[in-house]
Amino acid sequence: PVEQRVEDLLARMTLPEKVGQMLQLDARNDVKEIVSEKLAGSILHTSPAKMLEAIDLVAETRLQIPLLTAEDCIHGHSFWPGATIFPTQLAMAATWDAALVERAARVTALEVAATGIHQTFSPVLCIARDLRWGRVDETFGEDPYLIGELGAAMVRGYQGEGLSDPTGILATAKHFAGYSETQGGRDASEADISPRKLRSWFLPPFERVAREGCEVFMLGYQSMDGVPITANKWLLNDVLKGEWGFTGTLVTDWDNVGRMVWEQKVCADYAEAAAVAVRAGNDLVMVTPGFFEGAQEAVARGLLREDEIDAAVRRILRLKFTMGLFEDPRAPSPQRQLEVIGIPAHAELNLEVARRSLVLLRNDGTLPIDPEKFRRIAVIGPNADHPQSQLGDWAGDSGQVNWMPDGHPRELIETVLDGFRTVAPDHWDITHARGADIERLVPDPEGETYPDGQPRPPISQAAPVDAHLIAVARDEAIRADYAIVVVGDTVNLTGEHKSTATLELQGGQIALLDAIAATRTPMIVVLMNSKPCVLPGSARNAAAIIQAFNPGMRGGRAIAELVLGLIEPSGRMPLSVPRHVGQQPVYYNQIRGQHGRRYADLTQEPLFVFGEGLSYTTVEYSDLSVSPAAPSSVPVDGTIRAEVTLTNTGARPSLETVQAYVSDLVTSVTWAVRELKAYRQVTVPAGESVTVTIELPASACSLVTADGRRVVEPGDFELLVGPSSRDRDLLRAPFTIR
Ligand code: IFM
Repeated sequence: PVEQRVEDLLARMTLPEKVGQMLQLDARNDVKEIVSEKLAGSILHTSPAKMLEAIDLVAETRLQIPLLTAEDCIHGHSFWPGATIFPTQLAMAATWDAALVERAARVTALEVAATGIHQTFSPVLCIARDLRWGRVDETFGEDPYLIGELGAAMVRGYQGEGLSDPTGILATAKHFAGYSETQGGRDASEADISPRKLRSWFLPPFERVAREGCEVFMLGYQSMDGVPITANKWLLNDVLKGEWGFTGTLVTDWDNVGRMVWEQKVCADYAEAAAVAVRAGNDLVMVTPGFFEGAQEAVARGLLREDEIDAAVRRILRLKFTMGLFEDPRAPSPQRQLEVIGIPAHAELNLEVARRSLVLLRNDGTLPIDPEKFRRIAVIGPNADHPQSQLGDWAGDSGQVNWMPDGHPRELIETVLDGFRTVAPDHWDITHARGADIERLVPDPEGETYPDGQPRPPISQAAPVDAHLIAVARDEAIRADYAIVVVGDTVNLTGEHKSTATLELQGGQIALLDAIAATRTPMIVVLMNSKPCVLPGSARNAAAIIQAFNPGMRGGRAIAELVLGLIEPSGRMPLSVPRHVGQQPVYYNQIRGQHGRRYADLTQEPLFVFGEGLSYTTVEYSDLSVSPAAPSSVPVDGTIRAEVTLTNTGARPSLETVQAYVSDLVTSVTWAVRELKAYRQVTVPAGESVTVTIELPASACSLVTADGRRVVEPGDFELLVGPSSRDRDLLRAPFTIR
């Protein structure tokens, strides 16, 4: 019946009505113009009041086709004061826990759906390789397998029982594909990426979520090999719709169609651009109002046939019918908002996600601090009491989402300082000093305007060293038993259009760390940053380092709990961290065959590797066995089964993430040194041993040949199992595929 309804409606639509359905327009301002004049079928970035206005306006249109409303709710509801803001996607990735990520996405869906939004622009499946890129925080890190697993979990969580579930929201996998592979980390630049490389690493997460029922893909901003992604017929039509059989809907990124005219200059006008975009397989056209006239003109000029527009409109209508929007436009529901937004159960889950996302990277035995033995603690650093840094981007008044009027209520956000005040014993003396100012940005030294005369935002560097702030912090550290120093970045230096040329800590934070280290008070460094930063020696040699990323509303409390040993550290790095910005990229699954893995002046090894993370105990991995073991072989459609023993030799339990990597020993093309193919999470109680079984389909041991085919090349392989991707952490066992 859906198909019949689509055809029936389509047959009654005029060309302007069809083109209008393809528009997804910015509804922050004039809704009337969008809905009544441009006949837009979809709106984004809007408030409940505007949504209700838009629904009324739709009722006045000839065919009354319901609107699809969309928003960037990528780690919680981005503009709803009091909504649950989870750790960022990168922080969630550090949990490596798909079931937990699914639960978080479910909560987001419930809260977002109650406000009348039907579609979220999430999950982000970009691969974070160049950390200068401003959107690393939005990703699940650097590994395609982990990204695919967590992305699929998010899709399940968002969509609930399926597209017709009114408590669910439509997932949008983005940015299809290769957007993050920018040059110099610069956002939206040409992505220097071959079709083979795309197939090897950048497409698999998208294939994974398509199998999970993700019906909408959003394109990126980049062009590849001279072709803007919006015009990439090969990728959109041949690969996605042809080879994969994807029947879902595509949405462009913001004004991608217009950008082909005014920025990339591959089209002379909007009629040409509309024809190119529709021919390449795009459906929803995000924030290019000129597409309305352009597409109609393209038909009039014979650049585009109406039946080509029909194909796109058919996909959009199919989505709306399947979601049941014709029966229930899913308007904002004040009652439902009261029932679900920010309720205690959601806050509890948020705390759980934050706890699980923290990665303990270094510990000389200082942690956990015994609350009975010590009493004076100095909580220092610009992010120690910084609600916005804790939430990260796409959260309220974070710069990206600057249309939210009031921000998130301060009392709902537990900063690190709040966290210690809540969980430390009453007799503790907790002091606080900011130590550095990363809020105030100094103007770009090159001048106040861009070459075209536009004002240049002062985003070059945060304010320089403030000796007074440092002196106050140092005095507090001297008096304390421990100094907890929370450093990182702010949303001023994160996000779309906000890539950074450096990865160093800004705004006098290096001087702050040096000064605190010099006091000899044990220093626990907490990294509250949107993306990894390069650490100075004083931080690298600190008593402990905790990587928190942007840990969400309750992250400060989780950090305090971790420091005091009220919880066990269990997060694992979702990406590798360089020692120096010039080492990039340092992702673990590099192509093998580089001279000695070093520069003349520096090792090529990252400071921290993918998969790494400590617990408060020691777990030994032993007795790795594989079946069938060589010389027996497994068929290409068979399964490899591995067993490994984990022995906890300490006094506390550990939630281990047992990682299984595969290395193909001889390959027809140069290939990754190793790749994550499976992992299991298991708790190993203190003093006990646990045997873990991991199963892996032989078909996962594939590569992409020189002519672009993904195949398993029969031959000898090695299975590497351990607690991180680092060479010395891995046990090895050979196996053969025939
Ligand atoms: O969803 C985003 C996308 O990731 C980047 N450009 C704008 C879109 C809508 O806000």
